[in-house]
Amino acid sequence: MITSKFRPVICLATVNKNFVRTVAVNKTVQTENTQSLRSWKEVPGPSSLPLIGQLHHFLPGGDLSNIASTDFIELLYNKFGPLVRLQGFFGASDIYFLYDAESTAQILRSEDNMPVRPGFPSLDYYRRSKVKENEPTGLITDHGELWKQFRSTVNPVMLQPKTIKLYSGQLDEVAQDMIKRMRSIRGEDNMLKGNFDMEMNLWALESIGLVALGCRLNCFDPNLPEDSPAKKLIQLVHDMFKVANELDFKPSMWRYYPTKTFKKAMKMYEDQATVARYFVDKSIEELKVKGKTEDQKGILEKLLEINKEVALIMASDMLFAGVDTAANTITATFYLLAKNQEKQDKLREELKSDSEKRPYLRACIKESLRLMPVVAGNFRMTTKEHNVLGYLLPKGTHVSFVHQTMAIQDKHFPKPKEFLPERWIVSKDDPLYHGNAHPFANMPFGFGVRSCIGRRIAELEIETFLARAIQNFKVEWFGPPIQVTPSSLNYITGPFNFVFKDV
Ligand code: HEM
Repeated sequence: MITSKFRPVICLATVNKNFVRTVAVNKTVQTENTQSLRSWKEVPGPSSLPLIGQLHHFLPGGDLSNIASTDFIELLYNKFGPLVRLQGFFGASDIYFLYDAESTAQILRSEDNMPVRPGFPSLDYYRRSKVKENEPTGLITDHGELWKQFRSTVNPVMLQPKTIKLYSGQLDEVAQDMIKRMRSIRGEDNMLKGNFDMEMNLWALESIGLVALGCRLNCFDPNLPEDSPAKKLIQLVHDMFKVANELDFKPSMWRYYPTKTFKKAMKMYEDQATVARYFVDKSIEELKVKGKTEDQKGILEKLLEINKEVALIMASDMLFAGVDTAANTITATFYLLAKNQEKQDKLREELKSDSEKRPYLRACIKESLRLMPVVAGNFRMTTKEHNVLGYLLPKGTHVSFVHQTMAIQDKHFPKPKEFLPERWIVSKDDPLYHGNAHPFANMPFGFGVRSCIGRRIAELEIETFLARAIQNFKVEWFGPPIQVTPSSLNYITGPFNFVFKDV
């Protein structure tokens, strides 16, 4: 529950001795003499038993059994301090959770130009099994030279502001169609009938589909059959993140033998690739007859001119990475604006002006990503040795940089648990000014050359839809706080007590 996430973050009296020791050692970490550093084996974390390691903590009844609670990641910090080691089970690597912004900066800045984010080993396994050794599988799963080559091919197209701007009018049409759909499925109580999360996913898929494929998928069609490719794709993307969480972030034996979940995952990955390919092929056929000028060409057309395989993989990855992320972010923003009516009124005022510049709109989204980020932390496998808070972490260490916790610490953001979009627009001399926070305390889109390639697209989609929604509806919330269930993403789960009244 969001309220529990907002408990006082740390109480020194309850923190164990390891934490106190870690802080003391931290004062001397700048030394180059690695001999004075502690071993990674000494990094605080749950106690370990012979053979089973830390497993007993995660079993039913164990003090960390509630891994699916929003508290989990904060619990680790409160118990063990700013660097925590969780041992990997059944062939998975240990994970180090880092809650210190300066150490985060030190590591991320000194990584080489091919940072490794070992996000989805099971998806990686599936995709690798389908291609030759030197063939790319996409940004989500590739590393090293293959990733670098792929990213430098797609960057000039995907990050070109002029190309992204091309979609603003059409994304606005998607947003307006979504508003119509919301009206049409609204009951007398002004709540949306059906599954709210499915509705937000439909909007997100229609939006990213437009960008990835250059055409409308018609997800809002009221007669869309349950077994239509669009509905299938939404379900698959959702299930893929879930299954990846089971296999890649929780203890699983799949590395030793094909478990039931592993077999299910392989089938799902195959199905997602097939449906994505179906959409891309359909778009390619449609594009052939359109005939566009150079300036009108969108992402898919431009990538197709460079390399068909790259275009296919990138479109498929956009359909994977761009749905649940955007859907949960818009839901979080609706929730925070519903709980902060005066901020919602202020936003509506700004939107009345019809000016192209909408700083408060952007600030609301930034603030929502700070308080309720859809990705809890950034992840790297280090490509060199690092001296972190007095411990020597060897090359190849898996580190999660937990901005979800850092971004709600008052040393970075005053009144950290309040929804204050103002902090993103006030001037430097205002104590709320966001620039006073450590720049690595809040990184909802990641960092550096490996950061989210869809950031500008996501921001445009969300800004466009949020603006239309707030112009049309007064969004309210009733009942207990919204539920967030952390998995490979932070999923907002029902009940969705939203009320959308006409303004
Ligand atoms: C609010 C929405 C979104 C959030 C918060 C988000 C967040 C992130 C984060 C944290 C990463 C990891 C960055 C790192 O490791 O440094 C990432 C990577 C990525 N995102 Fe997003 N994302 C969002 C939407 C999208 C959309 C709409 C797309 C589709 C275009 C997308 C495509 C990707 C891809 C392909 C990567 C891998 C990049 C690489 O490794 O080179 N994301 N995203």
